[in-house]
Formats: sequence, C-alpha cells, structure tokens
Amino acid sequence: MSAGIKNFTPREVMSELDRFVIGQKDAKRAVAIAMRNRWRRQQVEAGLREEIMPKNIIMIGATGVGKTEIARRLSKLANAPFIKVEASKFTEVGYVGKDVESMIRELTEIAVSMIKEEYSERVKVKAEELAEERLLDLLVPKPAPKQKKKKEVANQEIDLNDINLNDFESLTKSMLDSGDSDENSDGDVKTESEIEDQGLIATREKFRQMLRDKKLDNRFVELDTTPPKQGMGIPMIEVVASPGNFEDIGKSLRDMLSGAMGPKSSKRKKLKVPEAIEILIEQEAAKLIDMDAVVKEAIERVQDSGIVFIDEIDKIASKDKSGHGPDISREGVQRDILPIVEGSRVHTKYGVVATDHILFIAAGAFHVSKPSDLIPELQGRFPIRVELQPLTEADFLRILTEPAHSLTKQYSALMKTEGVDLEFASDGLTEMARYAALANQQMENIGARRLHTILENVLDEISFSASEKQNEKLVIDGAYVKKCLDPLIKNEDLSRYIL
Ligand SMILES: Nc1ncnc2c1ncn2[C@@H]1O[C@H](COP(=O)(O)OP(=O)(O)OP(=O)(O)O)[C@@H](O)[C@H]1O
Ligand SMILES: [Mg+2]
Repeated sequence: MSAGIKNFTPREVMSELDRFVIGQKDAKRAVAIAMRNRWRRQQVEAGLREEIMPKNIIMIGATGVGKTEIARRLSKLANAPFIKVEASKFTEVGYVGKDVESMIRELTEIAVSMIKEEYSERVKVKAEELAEERLLDLLVPKPAPKQKKKKEVANQEIDLNDINLNDFESLTKSMLDSGDSDENSDGDVKTESEIEDQGLIATREKFRQMLRDKKLDNRFVELDTTPPKQGMGIPMIEVVASPGNFEDIGKSLRDMLSGAMGPKSSKRKKLKVPEAIEILIEQEAAKLIDMDAVVKEAIERVQDSGIVFIDEIDKIASKDKSGHGPDISREGVQRDILPIVEGSRVHTKYGVVATDHILFIAAGAFHVSKPSDLIPELQGRFPIRVELQPLTEADFLRILTEPAHSLTKQYSALMKTEGVDLEFASDGLTEMARYAALANQQMENIGARRLHTILENVLDEISFSASEKQNEKLVIDGAYVKKCLDPLIKNEDLSRYIL
C-alpha cells in the first residue's frame, strides 16, 4: 500500500526544501513534521490509527515570502497527490452552488493519473516483451501447438504482404535442412510437423534478432490501431443528489458516453515496425494494468496522503461580524469547507473518498483579518500556525543565487540559448538585493517577487540585443546594476510603475 510515497525524515524534508526555499525555517519544520506524522500514523495498528487525525497547518506570511513555494516543493518531494485551491475563488460571483467538494474530486483525478503512470512504469518491461511477441506473430507465424497437423499450421495467419518471402523461406529451409534438427534429445525420430515447428521457432528467433538489431525498421506490418480502452470495464455513472453537483454529473456523463461509443479511430493500419512496436507496447500495457486496482490504490493514496493547499484563506476570514453581504458569503464558504476538513465522504466518479486524513495546508497574509476571525470550528481544525518572516536584503542575495532553480541561473540559461555567456559578479548581486529591499521599502512589500522586476529591468537591454551578441561574455557588476536602476528608484513615479 502506498508504495509510491517516500518516507523522508523531518530532517531530510528540511534539507530538500532548503534547496529551493531560503529561510522560513519554522514553516519548513512544520510541514516536515506533518509529513512524517502521516507516515508514523500509517505504522500504528489499525484501531488507533483511525483515531489519529492529521494536524492541519496555517501558514501566515506576507505576499511573496515563500508560502506557495514551500507547499509546492513539499508535494513534489512526497510524491503525494496535491492540489492548490484559492479559497477566495469560492466567494466569487457566480460561484454560489459550485460545491467545494470539487477539490476532492480533482485531487482524486490527480491521484488516478499518478497511480496509472506508476503502474505503466512497472509493467513496462513485460509490455515490451509481449509487444515483441505480437510483432513477431505478425512477421512470422507461430509454431503450431503440439498434435496440430501441417494443414492447420499453414492456415495460421500470415500476412504475405508483410514478410519478405525470400527471407522466410530460406530461413525455414536452412533450419529444416540442418542435420541435427531431425532428432530430439531422446533420439526419437520426429514427426514432420515437429520438424516444421522447429524451423518456425528458429525463423522466429532470427527475426527477433533482426528486430532487435533494428534491421527490420523499414518493414511494414498491418495492425489494429484502436487505442486501448482506458478506464473501468463497464461505463458507470454515479449520480449523487446534492446541489451543485450538476457540473460533475455532466462531466461524468460525457466521460461515460465517450467510453461507451468507443473511439471512432478503430482501424487497421500499415505501419513501419518502430511505430508498430510503440502502439503494441501501449496496447499490451493497457491490458496489463488492472484499472480497478489503480482506482483502489488512488483512493487509498488520496485518503492517506493527499495534500490540499488552500491559498488565500485570509480572504474568507470575516473580520466584520455585523454581517454585511460579502462576509456572509465568506462565512458560508468556511462552513462549506468545514465538513471536508473535519472529515466527510465525498462522492467522486471513482468511488467514495473519505477526507478524514487528508492534510490541509492553508495560507494567507492575514493583513486585515486574523486566524482568530475564522469560525471557531475551522480554527480548531488548523492547530498548527506558522509565521513566515519578511525577507531581508540578505535573504534576497541568497535567493538570487542559492536555490536550485534561482533566477540568475534561469536568466543565464536563457542567454546561453543565444550563445551569450551571462555572468553575475558578486557586487552586481549585492546591488540587486539592495535595490529590491529598497523598492519593497519605498513602495509595497511584495517580497521575493520584487526580484523578478529588478532582474527584468537590469537585463532589459541585454534581453533585447542578445541575439546579436553571439559568443560574447557579459558580466553584470555593481556599476551596471546601478546604471540601470538608479534613475528608476530616484524617480518615485517611475519606480511605482516599473520596479
Ligand atoms: N524564501 C524564499 N526562497 C526562495 N524563493 C522565494 C522565497 N520566497 C519567495 N520566493 C520566490 O518568490 C516567488 C513568490 O513566492 P510564493 O509564490 O511562495 O509567494 P507566497 O508567499 O505564496 O505569496 P502570496 O501570498 O502572494 O501567494 C516565487 O517565485 C518564489 O520562488
Ligand atoms: Mg501564494
């Protein structure tokens, strides 16, 4: 069960997250512990296990300090089904009635494709073997099963157009002629059909070798290219009578109909061997994958290790208790979300999913509202609160260079495609960090997102002309950064729009 989940220790999770997110130790610690607790829970004996609820987390921090980034990296790391939803989207006009349960349906959908992919990977070798056999069936007839008469052998499906008769006959003949093939190990004289079978086996093996040596790559074979039926054997739809479910019913209906009608492309095609083998592998893999097992495991995976990231939770926390219009809808959304977070059964097209042990990570800036403005029941379901720190100039400097996919690495890679060698001198980096902090201070603090606009402006000229600067080496130093940004930061109106 849940074989795909990686069991990192909190320390390992921390050090992985460190590769991508600078600072924010508390938040990284909290998610690392939550991850491990889920593994610990799975080791506990069944009765007690059901009683242990995941401890959900609220990440509190200003915009652009790494909340989403932490959650995103965590899910990748954990190989857990992950979905990110914006809480505020459920308050949007026209959204009324769209049930919040859809996030669990989507999460299940994500898990199903995840597991399907894992299964395909597992049966890949077997599928390749079977595909090779099927291709050989098309190229060379199979030896007849024992006791079969010669006539039946001749009747086996041979596509005369597809095999080079000269090859075939000469290969068969050479095998038949070879002296040692007319006696088996017991020394008995073989029947005519046995001799022929041996010839066919040998021919088949010759073809197999030729196939593997890619000597048949220009050969054509004819095969049924109907895409393998995906999904469960019998088209099924589960209609759940609850308001707001109609969209989903429509979707399921469409899925069902498209499954029942079957793809129209069912036809025999002549294909070159390399293309044919791809199709055969796909068909064999589909036959080997037990979709019922995939669905079962996907549901288990969602239930035991799914992560739902609810962004902008602060936007549905109502501060004003007097109950003006928008606040009612916000509180309404909280009430809608509550049962899912508390643990309920959600009907999906794959079956019922229990949400009791799904990990919910909520995040918000909480500038205006506070976590205490959330309805008490919801507060109780998010016992872990972690604050993310505002990023400093020193953090910016590290964010520019240290993360595995840092912005400076990204830009250098982009320039490399033009044949330009872009380098950042250390005083250039310090200057950019300084301007980013300065701009955040002078205007709105948008955290590390500021680095994007800073870099865009510094590299504006180079981005424009890089295509004409092949084989040049460009170094971004402190003086260059100053030259680009000083005029902007000194002019308040300009900086407001540009930086
Ligand atoms: N601590 C950090 N280390 C490295 N990169 C960071 C850090 N914080 C933010 N970033 C980068 O800044 C950008 C925005 O970060 P992120 O999306 O995590 O912000 P957020 O905290 O979710 O903000 P919001 O409240 O606006 O959603 C991303 O490109 C991210 O890589
Ligand atoms: Mg975010």
